[in-house]
Order: sequence, then C-alpha cells, then structure tokens
Amino acid sequence: MERQNALDRIKFLRNELHRHNYLYYVKAQPEISDYDYDLLLRELIELERQYPEFDDPNSPSRRVGSDISKEFIQVRHRYPMLSLANAYSFGELADFDSRIRKALPEPYEYVCELKFDGVAIGLTYKGGKLVQAVTRGDGTAGDDVTANVRTIRTIPLELHGHDFPDEFEIRGEIFMPRQVFEELNREREEIGETPFANPRNAAAGTLKLLNSAEVARRKLDCILYFLLGENLPTDYHYQNMLKAKEWGFRVSEHMTLCNNLTEVQKFIEHWDHARKKLPFDTDGVVVKVNSYRQQNLLGLTAKTPRWAVAFKYKPERVSTELLSVDFQVGRTGAVTPVANLRLVKLAGTTVKRASLHNADQIQLLDIRIGDWVFVEKGGEIIPKIVGVDQSKRSLFSKPVDFPIVCPECGTSLVRPEGEARHFCPNQYGCPPQIKGRIEHFISRKALNIDGLGEETVALLYDNNLIRDAADLYTLTREQLLQLERFAEKSADNAIKSIEKSKAVPFARVLYGIGIRYVGETTAKKLAQHFRSIDSIASATMEQLMEVEDVGERIALSIIEFFSNEINRELIQKFKASGVQLSVRDEEIAIISDKLKGLTVVISGTFSRISREELKDLITRHGGKNVSSISSSTSLLVAGENMGPAKLEKATKLGVKIISEDEFFDLIEQ
Ligand code: IVH
Repeated sequence: MERQNALDRIKFLRNELHRHNYLYYVKAQPEISDYDYDLLLRELIELERQYPEFDDPNSPSRRVGSDISKEFIQVRHRYPMLSLANAYSFGELADFDSRIRKALPEPYEYVCELKFDGVAIGLTYKGGKLVQAVTRGDGTAGDDVTANVRTIRTIPLELHGHDFPDEFEIRGEIFMPRQVFEELNREREEIGETPFANPRNAAAGTLKLLNSAEVARRKLDCILYFLLGENLPTDYHYQNMLKAKEWGFRVSEHMTLCNNLTEVQKFIEHWDHARKKLPFDTDGVVVKVNSYRQQNLLGLTAKTPRWAVAFKYKPERVSTELLSVDFQVGRTGAVTPVANLRLVKLAGTTVKRASLHNADQIQLLDIRIGDWVFVEKGGEIIPKIVGVDQSKRSLFSKPVDFPIVCPECGTSLVRPEGEARHFCPNQYGCPPQIKGRIEHFISRKALNIDGLGEETVALLYDNNLIRDAADLYTLTREQLLQLERFAEKSADNAIKSIEKSKAVPFARVLYGIGIRYVGETTAKKLAQHFRSIDSIASATMEQLMEVEDVGERIALSIIEFFSNEINRELIQKFKASGVQLSVRDEEIAIISDKLKGLTVVISGTFSRISREELKDLITRHGGKNVSSISSSTSLLVAGENMGPAKLEKATKLGVKIISEDEFFDLIEQ
C-alpha cells in the first residue's frame, strides 16, 4: 500500500474504532459484531506495525475500552485483568503452538475451555467469604459491583470445605442465559423500552443497575475459569478448577485436558456445532497451558499472556438477495424495518426475514433493495443483516426509503431526540397500536383473558365491537356469536374468562393498562405504594419518584398518561366495568402487631426483598414507615450501600440500627 493511502486508512480505522468503542462501552448499542470489530482492530495494528512513523498514543490499538461508570466505586485490581490474544484459524493456532514448543524445553499439556460471551468479573474471597466483585474496567481498575453480584445464585457467598486459601481471587464470566434474555426483551418491548441487542449487552447492562433487587430478578449466571492467589492448592490450572468446583463454584463442565494440537482441534471442531445447544452464548474456545510453572516461563506481553489463546468461531454468515422491506408498527408506535429475503439456510434454519434495526443502520450499511446482503446469526435470536456484498451490486438496485408517514395510518412519523427509532405519534387512532394495547391487556401477566387471542382481538376490532380494552367488558354473547370464529362454546368461554378477569389484583390491571415504561415490577411497586389508581393519577412528580425504581422518565410518563383526556375516560370506563382499580383489603391484611407503635425508616438496598415489599411488611406488622430520620424514629433498617448522611444522623440521635436479617428475625419471632 502506498504511504498516503496507508495513512488515510489508518485514520479511517482509528475513527471507526473510536466510534465503535463508544457505541459498545458507553451506549451498550453496538452496530457491528465483536468479530468485525476485531478484524478492524487487527488491520489497524498491522498497518501501524508497517508504518511506525504514523504512531499515535491515542490510537484505539493502544487501549482497551473501559466499562467504568461513575455510579460505582472504583477498585484497583490486585492482579491486572488481562485479555487474550485471538486466533481466527487453525493456522494461527498452529503458530501459537509452535511458539510454545520453542519456548518450552519439555512436554506440556493444554486445557481447552469454552469461551463464554459475557462480562468478565473478579471475585475476591477472604476466609471463605465473598468480599468483593469487580468488573474488568480498563484492566487496571474496575467497578465494585459486589451488591449486584451477590444476587447471582451460582456464586457462592460462603465456600464449602476448608482447603481453600485464606485469601484468593477467582475470575470468570457473568452472562445471561438465552432464555432469560428473550423473556427480558419481550418485557422491555411490551413496556416500550429499547430491547437489548444480545445476551452479552443485557448482562453488561444488568450488572450496572443501581438496584440489586432488579438485578436479582434478571437471573444472571456465572462460570469461573481462572484462579489467582498465593497458596493455591496445586500448580496446575485444570486441577485447581476441580478444587474450585468442590468449594462450590460453577466451573466450566466441558473443560478438557489435551496432549497435543490435534486434540485441541478436535475439541474446537466438536464444540463449533455442539455449542449451539448450550443454554448460553459462547464465541470460541480458550486454550491454556496447564502448568503454572510453564505459564510463568512463557510470561506475558503488554496486554495478553503468552500461555493462552482464544480461538474465535466465525459467526455463521450467508449472503442472499434482499427482496423488499416492510415497516412494522408495534404497540408503542415504534416502526421497525424488516427485510424480506430470498430463502436461505443459516445455522440449520431457513431464513426469510431479518431485522434491519433502524433508519441509521440502513443508511450506514448502504443497503439497497435488490442487493446481495450478508446475513448473520450471532448471539441474536433474529438473524440480522450485517453488510452488503458490494461486488454483486446491480445497476437496478433501489435505495430503501424509510417512510415519512406511518404505513398503517398515514400520520407523519417522529423521531424523539436521542432515539434511534421512528414512532407513529397517533397512539389513539393507529390500528396496530390500539390492537397492540388490547393484546397487552389480555396477556398472561396482565389480565390473563385466555378465551381471547391476537386474532380474536383483530376480529373484534375490525368488526367495530371494541375500540379499547374496557370495551371487552361490554361484549355480549350474542355479539360474539355473530362472528364466524365463535360457536356457542367458545363464545361462552370468552365471556367467562372476561368475567373472571375482574378478580385480577390491581397491580396486574395497572400493568395491563400499558403506561409506557411501567413494567410488571414497577406496576407492583406503584400499587403497593399508592394502593389505588386515583392516588396514582393525582400524584405529583415528587410523590411518584418516592417509589423505588421510579425515576424521572417513568414519573413523567405516568403524569403524561393521566393528563390525557382519552386515558382519563378509559379509566372511567374501567371503573364502570368492575375491574380492580385499587388494592383490596385482604391484600393489605395485617399479619401481626410486632412493630406496633414503632416508626421505621429504611435505607439502602436489600437482598431478600425490594424496598417497596419491605415498606409493605412494616405496615402489615403494625409499624409505621416514614422516609426521614428524626428523634421519634424507633428503628433504622440498614441495607447495602446505605447513605452516609442517614447513618450519621441515626447514630447521632441514638436510633437503633438493624440489618435486613435482624428485621426478619424481629417479625418472624
Ligand atoms: S481466561 C489471562 N477463560 O474472554 C487470561 N477467559 O477475550 C484470563 N473469557 O478476558 C482469561 N471465557 O473475559 C478465560 N474460559 C475462559 C473464558 C475467558 C471467556 C473472556 C475473558 C477474557 C476474554 C478474552
């Protein structure tokens, strides 16, 4: 390459990599796969090696991204958190092996493990107890996420046995099982949140939540693969991992000892296929020299150990023709472009549709109808288009025109600031939005009206029998029987299940009403706190934000909802229908009077229950929950990360401070 061209390319690559770093680490919304990112980075490193005169200390090749965020306390790693060199082919793997063979004058063994696609974590144990959990950060220091990590069930808080070192660190990967990820995204879409792109991003996003009760709900998992410390039980990685398993850690159950490169290759080939059946994502195989003595002989380079390598699987990718693009409108009005493809086989399934994300993505990849596009199935569930085969571009390809008006109702689309998606603002007139809201209302976690379904809702809507969810309660058997779909029995069943839904508790009704950003958990907490729809409707911003998890965005959305005349009318219709719009007395029944006469303040976050549940328990055991400490406070229940100001005030006033466990002892005595 000519010098000037090389410089141009280097500049281009640096810019691109900076941008992708930002998208990945700060926004958690990457545009390209890790694999493609690695390819760009490699190309840059190679060019910088050929042209050292273009060196730049700020080049993305010089630093690893950082996941540090200012909400957490930063902790220096006692041992730097290195990453691994990658191999993308058996040739590169053979190079790795021959470097080892040259450096070691004696036989050696490899340990092959799966490479888990999640977030790296370092766990420190002292005296057999978990004391700290820190993210990779920039490799030198990371975020202290101990409170969140404690919620992960497979991470032991106390170890079994007694042959573990008094102090050691164990590292591994925190991930979100695919099924949990799918469920979480379904929920996010239902309440109008942008879904996570893949399980890895979902795990990263979850680990950085400030509320550990919410982290607990999201069911992360963790597999450990690296032990560090002074007095480790053996001098071998494999044997130490087996020990770690005895102490109660989840270690990689597929870890295998290999005597030579052929065995390593066999492991890699086997898992290229078999990994797809695992309940979590993996993106390669890590090959490590087993003996610590040999690892020390081999040593480290600046960023990676010489004794290990990560073999990366190629994401499965095929190319096919893009026939057309549909624009789908969801319940929240979000418009999603969906590609219709010429049928193609990918990762064992036939693909005919693929996600195109949003308008920016279409422009960025310069995708045209009639193009041959690359389709990939990475960690994502729905295959996605990752690029265009420019060599096959036809003269007749046509640009994809993102619509300016809603394809369903003709209203001009809007794109809110900071959103990548376009929305149809015609909430109350756009059919898929109206039908979507009714479908949400009858869904299992909401009113659970199982005699109806998506198609029935469409049919009822198209026949002008319903215009909103409250209309369901005025439907008659006769009206249903006029429709082709219904016979006597199915009509009776539908009416019965509508009737039955009147007993569904208020929290689920509130969720079913479908206020943007109010998910199942938030609805429960709002219901517990305010007890009725009327108190929620008349609450101020500040009052709404007193509820755990309710920040400005959710509070605003609730205020906006109730300030709309159409919604207020809907609530009136619900009142007439007989659904539960307040918490029933049985639900707030008194359990005991153990806290009678006591004024209780809670502070921090709790591991066994949420703050709202704790407040509820205080009331139901006869106590009075107040938000600030004064001389009349009888008890302070202190959770994790309690505010220092509260602690100081409580100590000064001589208020009795108890832990979460002590609180439970008190009410369970
Ligand atoms: S060993 C010094 N083993 O992949 C070596 N890492 O790309 C420490 N990873 O930083 C890492 N699965 O976050 C190791 N079985 C495994 C792994 C693994 C996933 C992650 C880890 C590492 C990164 C390197």
